[in-house]
Amino acid sequence: MRNCARCHGSIPSLQNITEYNVAVKEAQVDEGASVSTLARVSHIHLFGISFIFFFIGLIFSLALGFNKWVKSGLIIFPFLFLIVDISSWWLTKIDPGFAWLVIIGGIGYSLAASVMLLSSLYQMWIMPLRQQHTDVNAWDDDSKA
Ligand code: HEC
Repeated sequence: MRNCARCHGSIPSLQNITEYNVAVKEAQVDEGASVSTLARVSHIHLFGISFIFFFIGLIFSLALGFNKWVKSGLIIFPFLFLIVDISSWWLTKIDPGFAWLVIIGGIGYSLAASVMLLSSLYQMWIMPLRQQHTDVNAWDDDSKA
């Protein structure tokens, strides 16, 4: 404490830990995001990101060349990982070990969304440039899409 006060008691811009109140405040353990912050951010993410995934999925549902099960999986995955991601914020509040789940959830939906985004953009923008046109309706069951 004395060693620390050499600076944290004499340099004006630093917390003056020789004052008890300041020292107590500095010694408090970081409990992470508060429940009210979690509730607020969870709502924003659930609604905001779901909308993004909904539209990416809707556009991607018109993509060609994907097996229909792979395609359905790619569309549903981001929503599942989003639920994992946001649930794990709350679980991490209870036990920091769950922080891994936040990372897994984030990587999961980013990967699935990237595949959808990149293949949709490729098929919409690059293929026409290469004179690759198609009139297949990917929603049509009879198509070989
Ligand atoms: C040689 C001067 C010096 C000593 C001795 C020193 N500190 Fe610091 N400390 C600083 C400076 C300067 C900063 C601000 C660094 C910055 O903002 O980038 C700082 C920042 C901190 C912070 C971060 C505060 C915050 O809210 O951002 C903590 C915690 C801290 N010191 C604890 C200690 C402890 C505990 C000791 C004693 C073991 C100690 N310091 C000893 C100079 C010192």
